[in-house]
Formats: sequence, structure tokens, C-alpha cells
Amino acid sequence: MTYDFDRRIDRRHTRSYKWDQGGKLFGDENVLPLWVADMDFLSPPAVREALEKRAALGMYGYAIREDGYFEAIADWFRDRHDWAIDTQWITDVPSVVTSLSLAVELFSEPGGEVVLQSPVYYPFYEVIRSNGRKVAKNTLLLRDGRFEMDYDGLERLFQGGAKLMLLCSPHNPGGRVWEREELLRLGELCLRYGVTVVSDEIHCDLVLPGLGRKHVPFASLSPELADMTITCLAATKTFNLPGLHTSFTVVSNASMRRKLQQRIQMLSLHMAQHFAQDAVEAAYRHGAPWLDEMLRYVEGNIEYAIAYLAEHLPEVKPLRPEGTYLLWVDCRGLGLDVNGLKELMFRKAKVAFNEGSVFGTEGEGWLRINLACPRSIVEEALESFCRAANAR
Ligand SMILES: Cc1ncc(COP(=O)(O)O)c(C=O)c1O
Repeated sequence: MTYDFDRRIDRRHTRSYKWDQGGKLFGDENVLPLWVADMDFLSPPAVREALEKRAALGMYGYAIREDGYFEAIADWFRDRHDWAIDTQWITDVPSVVTSLSLAVELFSEPGGEVVLQSPVYYPFYEVIRSNGRKVAKNTLLLRDGRFEMDYDGLERLFQGGAKLMLLCSPHNPGGRVWEREELLRLGELCLRYGVTVVSDEIHCDLVLPGLGRKHVPFASLSPELADMTITCLAATKTFNLPGLHTSFTVVSNASMRRKLQQRIQMLSLHMAQHFAQDAVEAAYRHGAPWLDEMLRYVEGNIEYAIAYLAEHLPEVKPLRPEGTYLLWVDCRGLGLDVNGLKELMFRKAKVAFNEGSVFGTEGEGWLRINLACPRSIVEEALESFCRAANAR
């Protein structure tokens, strides 16, 4: 192993969203946090070096983006995802959720319906509602321990007039890496009903190696589908940089891209962040070996967690993720309501996983566990959780 993913690094008192809010959010600052999706691993060495060099400038003036940054992005998606992106199609946005919200505002009508597939990453609901649109919910089907899209449900929503869909690909939570055929079937429906797709592919690089899956960018399926797709991407989830608050969209449709860029300019969200480009370029140019090793390590954590839960708490049933570092666990067998699960986690076990109902009503009785952390943290958290659950 070249990188030490086993190393525990004390993140408390670093203004960490994950580690420094235990008192405020869970009533105990010592709760072990395996919730919000960042990693307890150091970023790739090349990223740290690039940031150190930039910090050493000692002046943090307004910055520009250079061609090399856009070329690094395009090269990454060509090499990693067989997707040819023209650098002109790329627009920087501070965060993926910003892009989701702008897309809802620009590409749906006030009061109109926007489709999501639940359970799903909770800001999907927020960006629809806060823009004055209605959530048109298509519940995912759980078949043989994995989520599938309900195409009949989608067609009903499209027939009912929904013209925008937020796709989460790979899907959070549940870890589905949608297959080409599944996406093509979705694409056919979108083309038939003239539905624009906002494809949040922030987890695209986090496909776990063991199952032989491959991420298929929705916009890579055909030029017709690319023409009606806004793809939201970032290096932040892949390389543990979310605090740098940087992301980008890829939009090949020139008029949609112009609309997006005008709004970004109007809100003055277009200026370059001083550090972000250096980190992203270094990550895409030099981070692949780190990423491959990190994914193998996380896959080991997932295997460990699934085996541990099967042995020590068989009432709970995790879904085996194909992608993401998040384990979605069906805890309905414990017979606890939302408050009961919180009490079990925060008070009794002293661990913080994400409570599932925030991902949609389908998530009630489920928990999401972030496994991008040293194995010893996974061991400690699961041991405490299972001990507390078995003592209830
Ligand atoms: C599906 C999905 N989209 C977006 C984000 C957040 O992206 P950003 O921090 O760039 O808004 C996350 C983070 O967990 C996520 O899981």
C-alpha cells in the first residue's frame, strides 16, 4: 500500500462540518461521526503539494482560470469515462447544489413539477421547493436488494406535464451505478416527452472495483440526449476537497449553456476561487493511483461492515453499494421509529450515521453510514451500534 488509509487523523477543532458539530447536532461532542459525505483520508499528495505552493504565494488576490485546468477536466473524463467533452462546454459553479438550484430555476416553470427518484440526497427536495416548484416523486423500486427505476411511474409523471428531472447517477443513497440499458430506457422516455435532465454525477468516480460496474455519463449516451442534459460534476467528492467549494457543469447545448452562464454572471458566482483550480487540476492529472487504492480500501470497509452486521445484528439489512462510499442500511427490523433510531445512535451508541427519513419518506427506518474512513473507525462505530441495538 502506497497510501496510509488506516491512519486516524484527529479532525476535531479544525472547523470540520462532520467532526465539530456533535454537541450542536447530536447533543454530545464525542459522538463518532460517520454521516456527511466527506472522507477522513488525506487528499492525494499531488493535491496537497499544489495547495501548499499556492498558499506560499502569501497573496490571495483575484484569480483566473487557465486552459490547463479545463484540459485536465476533459482529459480525465476521456480517459476515465470514455466521454469526449469539449472544454467550451465546461462552466465552473461554486457547488453542485448551486448548479442543481440554478437548473431548476432556469429550466422549469414556476409552480411546475420537477421529477426526482426517492429516496435521494436531501438537497434535491430543497432546490425544487425553494425555487417554488413541486416535487414530482418517483419512488425507486427495491428489487433483490437493489434499487431500480420505476419507468411506468416516470412515464406517468412525464405525461402529467413534468418537464425537468433531477437524476442522481450514481445514486445516493443506495449506491446504484445505473447501467447503460437503464439510462437508455430513461433517455428514451425523456426524448419522447421533451424532458430536460439535470444529471448529478458527483459520485461518478466512486465506482467500487469489485463488481465490475462502470459509470456511464448520461450525456454520453447520444448527441440527442446530450442536447437536453446539464451534467453536474466535481472533483471534490472523488478526492476529498468539498471544503474548497468548487464544481462545474458540462452542457453541450449552446443556448442552455448561455442561459446558465448569464445567471451565474448575474449572481457574480463566476469569479475563480484562489485555490480550487490548482487542487482540481493536480487531482485529475496525478490523483488516479490514489483514487484506485482508496476505492479498494473503501470496498474492504464495505465488505467488513456487511459481514459484521450480518453476524452481530442480522435484523438490519444493508444494500450492497456498486458505487459511492455510503452504506444504506434497512433498520426497520429493529422496530424503531425515527426518534428511536436517533436515540439509539446518538445517546446510546454515541455514533452519528445519517437518519434515513431526510432522504424521503421511503428512508424511514433506514440509516446511511459513511465508510470513507479508517477501518478502525468503522469497527468502533459498528461495535457500539450493534452493542446498543442488542441491549435495547
Ligand atoms: C448526490 C450529491 N450531489 C451533490 C453533493 C454536494 O455537492 P456540493 O458540495 O458540490 O454542493 C453531494 C454530497 O454529498 C451528493 O451526494
